[in-house]
Order: sequence, then structure tokens, then C-alpha cells
Amino acid sequence: MSKGVVLITGASAGLGEEMARQFAALGYDLALCARRTDRLTALQKELAGTRVSVRALDVTDDQAVFTVFREFAEEFGRIDRVIVNAGLGKGAPLGTGRWDANRSTAMVNFVGALAQTEAALEIFRAQQRGHLVLISSMSALRGMRRAMTTYAATKAGVAAIAEGVRSERIRGVDVSVIFPGYIRSEMNEHVTQKTRFMVDTPAGVRAMVAAIEKRKAKAYVPAWPWVPIGVAMRTLPLSVVRKLT
Ligand SMILES: NC(=O)c1ccc[n+]([C@@H]2O[C@H](COP(=O)([O-])OP(=O)(O)OC[C@H]3O[C@@H](n4cnc5c(N)ncnc54)[C@H](OP(=O)(O)O)[C@@H]3O)[C@@H](O)[C@H]2O)c1
Repeated sequence: MSKGVVLITGASAGLGEEMARQFAALGYDLALCARRTDRLTALQKELAGTRVSVRALDVTDDQAVFTVFREFAEEFGRIDRVIVNAGLGKGAPLGTGRWDANRSTAMVNFVGALAQTEAALEIFRAQQRGHLVLISSMSALRGMRRAMTTYAATKAGVAAIAEGVRSERIRGVDVSVIFPGYIRSEMNEHVTQKTRFMVDTPAGVRAMVAAIEKRKAKAYVPAWPWVPIGVAMRTLPLSVVRKLT
């Protein structure tokens, strides 16, 4: 018997794709979306034996976010958990002529996450139950320099959305915000420096899934080394933090 229905955005690659595999192994049905439907269909085939529905979705198309979420809810009869995961790691130092990259990052990571949260909470308020999970980043904890500035700001915004909704205490609704450290994915496949703490995708996602299953309000994952790094990031002066990141 199914343990429930998990909707994951950005399920065509990286952490979203691996979360789909791991939630399928735990016995959940899956509602998966992203722009690259060929990859979603391949994942659906790989997960034969699990009920998986796939749909194309660009999270910057606001109306499509509401439509696709409602369609999934209708198809399955309910959605138990929504994982706001779709994200973009583009970005450039501010004022260097790359407004396009910084704007795209802001639209996918923040405005897209806001639309997904609205769409999820419409469903959860009507059901009077649901688990909203937002994927932030360790970079949300402080302002980050250069190419990371916009990305980190969007992820701080995502964490603030999660805390705001949690503070509202909506009947039957749990809220989790996950702060991943470095986990290997398409987003960082070209990153060769600063990989000291990088873990492979399955291991990193196991830590994410464990925190989500526990419905933790906040989780820095994997806990080692990111819990102590989180303490250092939040408390040390910016002049020191800038060297850590
Ligand atoms: N990997 C890490 O170390 C790390 C650390 C901290 C936080 N995160 C966060 O974890 C989440 C997943 O990242 P990842 O590392 O798995 O990156 P990834 O491998 O690049 O995957 C990103 C996913 O987001 C989807 N996506 C991108 N733009 C989209 C759009 N406009 N509409 C719909 N879907 C879109 C992509 O699907 P399509 O291209 O098919 O649409 C893809 O499935 C992101 O929110 C990221 O910021 C990752």
C-alpha cells in the first residue's frame, strides 16, 4: 500500500531525481515535474512498480505551476508532501553586465518557489493536511560574494518563506526547510575547487530524505560537517565567513 503522494519539482536531475528514487523505495507514489520530460519519462520507467505521474513544468510560468499542481492533486486524489526543489545555480557578480543570469536565478529560485508554495498551500488548506518542504542552501545563512550573491539571497528568501508559513501554524500543515551543503549534482558538476566537503548524490540525498521523513522544521545536511559549519557561519564576522565560502 502507498505511504502517500510526494510531489517533487526539479525531478529531472540531481537531488530531485535521487529524492524520487529514495521516496519510491520507501513506498510513496510520485508526482514529478521539470522542463525535461524525456528525463522524467526515463525515471518513470526506471521506477516501474511505483505509481509515478510526470508533467512538464517551468516554475517561472506562474499559471502553469498552479495548473500542474491542481492536475496532480486531482489525478491522485490528494498530495501528502510537496518538495519545492527546482533551482538554478547561475549568477554573476552584481554590476558586471550579467543581469540576465542573476534575474533568471531570482525568478526560478525565489519567485518560482513562492508560486510553488502558494499552489501547494491551496491544496493543503483544502485537505487540512500536508507537508511543505522547501530546499534552501547553506549559502542562505550569510551574504555571499561574487557569483553567489544572488543565489544566496534567493535561498535566504526561501528559508524565510518556510519560517513564515511555519509560524502561521496552518491546521494540519507541517513545514520543513532543508539546507544542503555540497552534494554532487548537475548544478555543481563543473565545480572542481572547494569540493572538500562534497558528498555523492545518493549519500547527500539520504540525509535530506531522513530529515524530511522526520518532518524536521530545519535541517543542515549532511549533518557532518554542515551543522558545525552552520554555527560558524552564523556567528563569525563576515571577514572570516568570506574565507570559508
Ligand atoms: N547540489 C547541491 O550541492 C545543492 C546545495 C544547496 C542547495 N541545492 C538546491 O537543491 C535543489 C536541487 O539542485 P540540484 O543540485 O539537484 O541541481 P540540478 O542537478 O541542476 O537540478 C536542478 C533541477 O531543477 C530543475 N529546474 C531548473 N530550472 C527550472 C525551471 N525553470 N522550471 C522547472 N524546473 C527547473 C531542473 O530541471 P529541468 O532543467 O529539466 O527543468 C533540474 O531537475 C536546488 O534548489 C538547489 O539550489 C543544491
